[in-house]
Amino acid sequence: MNKIKNKLKKIRTEDLSLGMFVYDVGRKWFDHPWTKQKKLITSKKEIEQLKEYGIDEVTIDLARGSSPKKIVKEIEKLRGISEKAEQIAEPVEEKPGEPVKTVPLEEELPRARETYFSALQTTREFLADARAGREVNVPKVQANVEDIIDSTFRNRDASLALIKLKAYDEYTLTHSLNVAVLSICIGCHVNFSRQKIRELGLGAILHDLGKTKVPYNILNKRTSLTEKEFRAIKSHTVIGANMLEKTKKIPGNAVSIARHHHERIDGSGYPDHLTEDQIDEFITIAGLADVYDALTSDRVYRKSIPPHEALKTIFALRGKQFDTLWVEKFTQCLGIYPAGTLVKLNTGEIAVVRSVNRSTLLRPNIRLILDPKGVPIFGVKTMNLDAAKFLDINIVGVIDPRTLGLDLSIYF
Ligand SMILES: [Fe+2]
Ligand SMILES: [Fe+2]
Repeated sequence: MNKIKNKLKKIRTEDLSLGMFVYDVGRKWFDHPWTKQKKLITSKKEIEQLKEYGIDEVTIDLARGSSPKKIVKEIEKLRGISEKAEQIAEPVEEKPGEPVKTVPLEEELPRARETYFSALQTTREFLADARAGREVNVPKVQANVEDIIDSTFRNRDASLALIKLKAYDEYTLTHSLNVAVLSICIGCHVNFSRQKIRELGLGAILHDLGKTKVPYNILNKRTSLTEKEFRAIKSHTVIGANMLEKTKKIPGNAVSIARHHHERIDGSGYPDHLTEDQIDEFITIAGLADVYDALTSDRVYRKSIPPHEALKTIFALRGKQFDTLWVEKFTQCLGIYPAGTLVKLNTGEIAVVRSVNRSTLLRPNIRLILDPKGVPIFGVKTMNLDAAKFLDINIVGVIDPRTLGLDLSIYF
């Protein structure tokens, strides 16, 4: 044991260099950027990721990182056989074009809102086109997807905050857009290339297109479905994929999302009962986003559940219906307390989570809405719980907004 310990050395993150083997980042999995604690540093980006998460110090293993021969071997191993985790964390393709500059949440929110509503209008149009048997206007949808991607690159939390605004008439409409926003956020989070995010976003926004061909009374039935009705609902996957296949300029990955977003790694999904590795990253991300948005939305046959409950539900499905690693990445992106969660503080005040601090998922940015006596707080009073001056303030519980009769959308 001592022998092992002697090879370990704590160093400052800024002193890390390529080829060093990080033995421990000193954080739990949801509090650091990697899928595991131990990692050979093979790119400068990995060091930058640690800095972004506010990790100033790491423990390195000199035995595994000090021998040049070993380093080369490890790098070859990572680049060759490559573990699944590395494939997810590392972009395979280069990001084309100019990188988009990030901006603060407050600055992006109005622009993100505009982008969201414009995309909502386009979604309304293409769903109507599909119902009427007209072809989807792909370039128009693609343009909206590009705008969402730009906005998400500028500030991911602004996009995520908007999917809380669910006060619209038609479920498929907002759901289609929200699944696209969520998928794009996850794609950004795992450093997908722009092209991959583009295909992911397009597939996600069109994922339920086939529902336009399922009778309305079946889609919105309040009581339990007959086997025949359930088959009709399930058919939206194949119908949607067939509709898209006939549409020009649709990438294969987008068609695959439409067909396979209900597939699960244990083979329990549909329509093709795919398992494990047959379910690629596009399908997985869209599938997770689909379930999360469905759970957090009101349906005719059941009420929504709060964001953190939805995450808990999805977390329980890891290793069963969804790949464990991807569920963890999804949680990292959304936060333990996702935007829109109503929380109680140790001061007795009630606040709503506005955005997540990905370096400290338990300490998000919040806006106070009720004082300890339950009296509404007027004006915008925000707190970044990660800031030193608020370190005495902690989240002690999560509250279902319906118990207080609150509409949280007014706070975004
Ligand atoms: Fe679906
Ligand atoms: Fe869906």
